[in-house]
Amino acid sequence: SLLVPSVVEMAKELSASIPGRYIRSDIERAVVPDGDQALEIPVIDMQKLVSGEPNNSEIEKLDFACKEWGIFQLLNHGVDSTLLENLKAEIAKFFKLPMEEKKKWWQTPGNAEGFGQAFVVSEDQKVDWGDLFYVLTHPLRLRNPRLIPTLASPLRETMERYTFDLNNLSTAMLGKIAEALHMKTEEMTVFVGEGRQTIRVNCYPPCELSDQVMGLTPHSDSTLITILLQLNDVDGLEIRKGGKWVQIQPLPDAFVINVGDILEIISNGRYYSIEHRVTVHPEKERLSFATFFGLGHDGELGPAPSLVSEQTPAKFTRVKVQEFYKGLFSRRLQGKAYIDTFR
Ligand code: SIN
Ligand code: FE2
Repeated sequence: SLLVPSVVEMAKELSASIPGRYIRSDIERAVVPDGDQALEIPVIDMQKLVSGEPNNSEIEKLDFACKEWGIFQLLNHGVDSTLLENLKAEIAKFFKLPMEEKKKWWQTPGNAEGFGQAFVVSEDQKVDWGDLFYVLTHPLRLRNPRLIPTLASPLRETMERYTFDLNNLSTAMLGKIAEALHMKTEEMTVFVGEGRQTIRVNCYPPCELSDQVMGLTPHSDSTLITILLQLNDVDGLEIRKGGKWVQIQPLPDAFVINVGDILEIISNGRYYSIEHRVTVHPEKERLSFATFFGLGHDGELGPAPSLVSEQTPAKFTRVKVQEFYKGLFSRRLQGKAYIDTFR
């Protein structure tokens, strides 16, 4: 993919005009739900989910949320609130570092990790209004020694602790999702293998032409699940619900979890990877932290055998996991176009 300049830096030049590659004429407006309220997505309680009581109704709620919404909020998730506060403060400082310093973590040709953007494959495509910091964090042996290990304290320790905790949370959540799907538990474990965690920290600077730029192009995630933490109180995340774009407004310190393409495939279409996008605020910067949970690269990806039957034939082809990931960054983002190639 191609390298791009920093949007955070560009946004500082108030008098400069915005280059054409950021300006779009095709942005669908979001609808405002009844009563001016943001849309309420389902809320799941992690403590109830893991409580182990028989006929746990929280599992039913989880099943409904993944099926009908493809997105939900998670409360009582057990991740320490001081850790979350530290993370918010440290990331805000990270994006504010002078460009001279940030340069050493900028993406390099052929590697998506570091500061920059993803899915930019041609000079004439539209690009997003934001900078990201993208890193592979699990398994540990695949971590790039030039990235997390070179961050200053306490950002480095905070990131390490947070990604460790989120890896455990993702694993627990996937166990519950397997239960909700009535899959065999080992079946999910085999798909996951050693697992793969990547993170994407996002900074969307304000833009005076906010209705003509996009923070993050409409897409579904190529993950099992994505766990999103909003780092400040500026909203911007929108989902496509019933064909319309609607803004969502997470509760403070809740995680927003969405179903990704891999889970849609494994569930044989029972669960739904939701299309979402990020809009830009005219005056305020927005910060967010997405943690992606995916599959180890040794196995195969396809509908779980226990979810395929004569009544419910396989809706997706079976592919090598490596095959699935290979095509990922060599295209631009475009709604649910990627998963559709595996139907
Ligand atoms: C965000 O809400 O800023 C990120 C959403 C995403 O990763 O798609
Ligand atoms: Fe996403």
